[in-house]
Amino acid sequence: MTSTNDIRRSFLDFFGGQDHVQVQSAPLVPYNDPTLMFVNAGMVPFKNVFTGLETPPAPRAASSQKCVRAGGKHNDLDNVGYTARHHTFFEMLGNFSFGDYFKEQAILNAWTLLTREWGLPADRLTATVYHDDDEAFDLWRKIAGLPEERIIRIATSDNFWSMGETGPCGPCSEIFYDHGDHIPGGPPGSPDEDGDRFIEIWNLVFMQFDQSADGTRRALPSPSIDTGMGLERIAAVMQGVHDNYDTDTFKALIAASQSHTGVPVTGENASSHRVIADHLRSTSFLMADGVLPSNEGRGYVLRRIMRRAMRHAHLLGAAEPLMHRLVPALVTEMGQAYPELQRGQALIEEVLLREETQFRRTLDKGLKLLDEATGDMASGGELDGETAFKLYDTFGFPYDLTEDALRARGISVDRAGFDGAMQRQKIAARAAWKGSGDAASGEIWFDIAEREGASEFTGYTSTSGEGRVVAIVKEGAEVECARAGDNVVVLTNQTPFYGESGGQTGDRGTITTPAGLHGLVTETSKPLGRLHAHHLHIETGTVSIGDNVQLEVDTARRSQIRANHSATHLLHAALRNQLGAHVTQKGSLVAEDRLRFDFSHPRPLSASEIAAVEAEVNAEILANEPVSTRLMSPDDAVEAGALALFGEKYGDEVRVLSMGRKGSHGTNYSVELCGGTHVRATGDIGLFRIVSESAVSSGVRRIEALTGNAARNWLVAREEALKEAASVIRAAPEDVPSRIGALLEERKRLEKELAEARRALALGGGSGAPAPAADEDVDGVAFSGQILEGLDPKELRPLLDEAKARLGSGVAAIVAVNDGKASIAAAVTDDLTERLSAVDLVRAGVEALGGKGGGGRPDMAQGGGPDGTKAADAIEAVKAVLAG
Ligand code: ALA
Repeated sequence: MTSTNDIRRSFLDFFGGQDHVQVQSAPLVPYNDPTLMFVNAGMVPFKNVFTGLETPPAPRAASSQKCVRAGGKHNDLDNVGYTARHHTFFEMLGNFSFGDYFKEQAILNAWTLLTREWGLPADRLTATVYHDDDEAFDLWRKIAGLPEERIIRIATSDNFWSMGETGPCGPCSEIFYDHGDHIPGGPPGSPDEDGDRFIEIWNLVFMQFDQSADGTRRALPSPSIDTGMGLERIAAVMQGVHDNYDTDTFKALIAASQSHTGVPVTGENASSHRVIADHLRSTSFLMADGVLPSNEGRGYVLRRIMRRAMRHAHLLGAAEPLMHRLVPALVTEMGQAYPELQRGQALIEEVLLREETQFRRTLDKGLKLLDEATGDMASGGELDGETAFKLYDTFGFPYDLTEDALRARGISVDRAGFDGAMQRQKIAARAAWKGSGDAASGEIWFDIAEREGASEFTGYTSTSGEGRVVAIVKEGAEVECARAGDNVVVLTNQTPFYGESGGQTGDRGTITTPAGLHGLVTETSKPLGRLHAHHLHIETGTVSIGDNVQLEVDTARRSQIRANHSATHLLHAALRNQLGAHVTQKGSLVAEDRLRFDFSHPRPLSASEIAAVEAEVNAEILANEPVSTRLMSPDDAVEAGALALFGEKYGDEVRVLSMGRKGSHGTNYSVELCGGTHVRATGDIGLFRIVSESAVSSGVRRIEALTGNAARNWLVAREEALKEAASVIRAAPEDVPSRIGALLEERKRLEKELAEARRALALGGGSGAPAPAADEDVDGVAFSGQILEGLDPKELRPLLDEAKARLGSGVAAIVAVNDGKASIAAAVTDDLTERLSAVDLVRAGVEALGGKGGGGRPDMAQGGGPDGTKAADAIEAVKAVLAG
């Protein structure tokens, strides 16, 4: 028997031998194609190559592409488990020509591989062509020698392939395998073509057109080839079985399911085993490509698939969560061809276990409610929409799970009733929101969110991608389009731009289209916490609703933001280690140039505490451990040691960020709940530097810090300043502190010397100095008046004390003249303060000096005036007061 792995290899080798470059499967999430939820065909990664927007990797290529068909145009979810060939996940083998060979070579290659390489009997093969494609008809005759009745013309869309509503398309030719007359069914185009005897195994698409949203088609730059062969189908043919689920890969997965549940693969149970095997593949591959369960968009499709499988596990009577135990079997079967499964194995198992544990909590109750509602219903009955909605809303039953649960009993679900109940809940939520007092201007966001759903954020894993414009807001109102010069807010169905939230600033970057739009995203906000609003300044071109636009985040800026955000987490942990567990986050700001972190702590941090915190953070940076992200329920997150973040609102699932080294109890240095973007490993932060510590309010401190180049630039600037200071004082930088200390000492000494010299000079110790004034008697009071040039005013008081001592009882006044200005002080001995006040005396002197005021106490007062030439007048004025 040829194994599925061998068939994949042999396909790629065959086309390799025909000069086809072997291209790795693209991830299942087509971030570069906003029209698709998941990659659903081998040609999807080459869509822009076919339309001429991108240059081909080579003229010819071949791949085995992972595909998911659940949600969107091609949705097989509901049928899986009940048919021989429906899958949510499958692999598409394809060969591609980008303007190189066309129909003839494509048909020749296909025929050669099937009949020569793989030895399929030619008489079991039938081809179809589009009804007017005479060329393809003739080629099948010529190359394969097929009789005319086995080249069937088909006029329907079955033979005109298109990827979705828009994109490359063209007539196609399908190859069918006849499984034999023991199986009912007729050839394609016949009345019983829906039977299972003739199975399409390969579709050759002659890509010729690009279809626009309005239905018009334009010719592609050059006719191309896209082919698709379902690996599971061809494996069934080559392994001589009719049912895809009987091929080696599925048998192995179903065997694992059987051995873990102990339930044989018979009757009704067979369907459940099939569902489990199929859904194990799609859910595991989706998670390996970064999709995680959530309540919106791709994450919700994943959750729906998971829960459908989990209900079937429950149906088989599995007492414990089952899905995660089957992952090793899947990795054994497919891990070699898809190493991402091996890399993701731990995460996949963990998420499956968590989801199943969580779902099992409500599953029983939900099924009981379902039983009560349908207990006496016969086949042909219908479950009311309200109950279906309650199952969805309260018990976490996706709609299709309820449908699936009732399918075997022939009971359907009232879809319109379900939708109506959902609508009523939305209206109630809106009313509650309106009542919450939020700004009325926010109503427009509510309209958009309700109509379009949340925008999907793709920016955890990439910084560029395509998105479809779903709304344009100009001056507070929705518009259809905007043009050069406009400042608008643009919303897309998916975006790599982070919207400002959780303290992290929004991304900036550009939005462009091949048609000429070039706009600058000046900020990204996050209205209602679920829309990503790009504030766009349009430089050239126009943008309209429905446009597919290219979104490019400014990556240099984003890297700095990442570093600052991760450093904030490390800082938080270091503060708790150094200061104590009372430290909790009170707010934070993560910008591109700095970070700010507010936390509870009763007093300023000492220099050594700051140094210790900084050292801890830098030690974690140097350890360069990878940063990991997990999705968990809030309770699990807290159990795992997570610190809740300030001001974040959480749904039923939170992102848990772990970073730094593991401690003795196995927990990472920092574990926090956080929706922000982070570095891959702590080493990416580079360097951490605290630049300020201050008070915000009583009991709340604030630290501002820098990382990476900003921290380095800050340090370099400090060093430059030190060098400059060193050169000014002519010392080596390391000697600056001791040298400045010495200089200050010297200055103090010199100041003292100078003051002494001035005093000596003023008192006549030097040449040319005025003699001390003789004491005189003014109206019965002993008075000493002096004018001293160049005397430091600080010396006035000691000199007056000396004069008072000399006088015993009396009044002294001194005027010190410096740089043309004068200071005056007067003193009155204690015995005279009853009747004479130094303040009055000084005031009179000050007035004479052209000044105002003067003050002190009755025994000693001081003042000054601008006119030093009036020094003698000031002494006279004092005397005049004394004389009364
Ligand atoms: N793109 C073609 C298909 O998916 C081959 O069938």
